[in-house]
Amino acid sequence: MTGSEYIQQISQLQQAVKKDAALSAAELQQKYLGSNGAFTLLAKQITEIDPSDRKLAGRPLNELKNMLAEAITAACNHTTTDTWIDLSLPGEKPAVGHVHPISQAMAEITNIFTSIGFTRVRYPEVDWDWYVFESLNMPPDHPARDEWETFFVDHKPDKKKGQMVLTTHTSNGQVREMERLGKPPIRMINIARCYRRQQDVTHTQMFHQFEGLVVDKGITIQHLKGTLDYFAEQFYGPGTKSRIRPFHFQFTEPSFEVDFSCHLCAGKGCRFCKSGWHEVGGCGMVHPNVLKAGGLNPDVYTGFAFGWGIERTYTLKEGLAIDDIRLLYSGDLQFLEQF
Ligand code: DAH
Repeated sequence: MTGSEYIQQISQLQQAVKKDAALSAAELQQKYLGSNGAFTLLAKQITEIDPSDRKLAGRPLNELKNMLAEAITAACNHTTTDTWIDLSLPGEKPAVGHVHPISQAMAEITNIFTSIGFTRVRYPEVDWDWYVFESLNMPPDHPARDEWETFFVDHKPDKKKGQMVLTTHTSNGQVREMERLGKPPIRMINIARCYRRQQDVTHTQMFHQFEGLVVDKGITIQHLKGTLDYFAEQFYGPGTKSRIRPFHFQFTEPSFEVDFSCHLCAGKGCRFCKSGWHEVGGCGMVHPNVLKAGGLNPDVYTGFAFGWGIERTYTLKEGLAIDDIRLLYSGDLQFLEQF
């Protein structure tokens, strides 16, 4: 082949590369630069031409090589459609979830109590009547049971422990914890789901409670009150006070209802609290019959217990007046993303 024929072949290939602008990078690579590619073969043939012509041919051959490199780079940016993509634009951020507000409250409550030596425990949320009612000083047919709107599970009753129920309160953990440890000291915080047959704007059939239980020698109401005050300050903020008012529960004697001063108006009385106080739950000194049911001698040990709902505790903290509490479990992102 003469030098001018060789240079002609180079320019023919240049034309061909221009026409192949629509090919993909891989196709260009294979067609021109593969081991049998048109460029590769032509480049090898340079040794066949007259040495004096080689210098002349070298330059266009180099240009062809650069042209191929550019064509391949351009092909890398090809898209299958005509849409032009600006790669310098910031990407779309994926939606980021967050912990459900009730789970946040549960973590916070756990921290508050474990930092003063309580142990967080978990007990069955489908449990025997014995733990939910009878061991808590509520014999079968006792009218106090009516308050708990119980769901009964269709399961063969146990001879000693009775029927199976969905736990109506976290108090089922009291005797279970006495059994687990065998003997005091007991400092338990039991946080769990509870279930009751009620559903309206202020109630969901499934909700959460937390239950504290402390049993040891010499435990008094002062320890109970101190613990409530500590929780009030830690959870609702400095200056929040607790107040206990006489009440009746079967499993505590004496029993009280627990109020916290309104942290939004420092107990002065506002639109949210009206009286300066919010009622949250119940507490008291563990009834001797409950200690006995847990295998403890009430002449040696005394204890206190308290328990209430997490949903209310949390919404109070945030100063939230949620019209319909069921929204918390509706999976409605527009609602949940606010927290
Ligand atoms: N279990 C009660 C309820 O669900 C709340 C309660 C009251 C728990 C007094 C206690 C207590 O531990 O001592 O309404």
